[in-house]
Amino acid sequence: MSFEQPVPTIVRDGDAVVVIDQTRLPHELTFVRIETLAQAAHAIAHMQVRGAPLIGATAAFGLALALREASDDVHLDAACARLAATRPTAVNLHWALARMRARLTPLTPAARLEAAWAEAEAIRREDRAMCAAIGRHGAARLADIAARRDGPVRVMTHCNAGWVATCGAGTALAPVFEAHAQGLPVHVWVSETRPRNQGLLTEWELREAGVPHTLVVDNAAGILIARGEVDVVITGADRIAANGDTANKVGTYLKALAAHDNGVPFWVAAPSSTLDFAAADGTTLPIEDRDPDEVRRIAGPGEDGRIATIALAPAAAPAANPAFDVTPARLIDAIITEAGVCAPGELAAQRPEPAHG
Ligand code: MRU
Repeated sequence: MSFEQPVPTIVRDGDAVVVIDQTRLPHELTFVRIETLAQAAHAIAHMQVRGAPLIGATAAFGLALALREASDDVHLDAACARLAATRPTAVNLHWALARMRARLTPLTPAARLEAAWAEAEAIRREDRAMCAAIGRHGAARLADIAARRDGPVRVMTHCNAGWVATCGAGTALAPVFEAHAQGLPVHVWVSETRPRNQGLLTEWELREAGVPHTLVVDNAAGILIARGEVDVVITGADRIAANGDTANKVGTYLKALAAHDNGVPFWVAAPSSTLDFAAADGTTLPIEDRDPDEVRRIAGPGEDGRIATIALAPAAAPAANPAFDVTPARLIDAIITEAGVCAPGELAAQRPEPAHG
């Protein structure tokens, strides 16, 4: 039996959508009701929703919310521009907006609102199916590794590419959940992923699902890989260029280097909505620079149980916060999409048919 989301990450509720507030995970599972374009843009920019596929779906629903107010061309364009400006790296955001625009622009303004809800729902449903297919393809590859060794397949991942990052079972974690559901023994090394610690969401997801795992600091990856304690590294992606160069959460590149140096396979798992064929290679992929205060401070539950931040470094400490890095295709052994598993150089064959003419 395949893994299903324990609770939906995004769901329509009448004229609104409800999402998990990921800024409070893993300490509290709470929800945010989003009723307006402004609230949708805020939720993406402030990472109440995060993860490339979920950002894309949220932008699509955000556009539907925007059209409740007005649905002429001027408002449609303005709403797309506002949502597009929230986060630059995850191409799923721009893919979803382009798809919504292609669907809505030919319609009369009066017909756009219902069509927008339907298209956003289709994006959500299709993402769920893509995650499931990634899970099946990846689990078959994990089974190949399992057949060659005693004991669990030891997977290392980075950031969170699990169910909370998507509308389904996840991307990098989908093969893990699927393998676990099939009875294949797996163990996951989870790196905390400073500065925002999305690894803690991965740890929580795996703990809730009963998948054996161990949380480590980001800098432990090198020694674990060098000591032969990792069979495969699997990460997600925020944007994959035509040649396979992959932008993903900062720190991914260092794991890929360590894996390459030690002959450990490095796989990227992502739906086709993360492929950016307009970018020939990784040199032009936009890398988000976030608030340096995310580096100087750290969030967690305070004495009263409420989420608070505390200072790690004085406010005067110069800090920089590139949120993603680019792993060159030469360090990537396989890319897993809903269409199957391929080498980075074979990505063009995974290109889906356009959804709308
Ligand atoms: O900044 P985030 O948390 O939105 O970034 C998410 C990532 O970089 C994930 O690792 C990536 O795989 C995309 S989500 C499946």
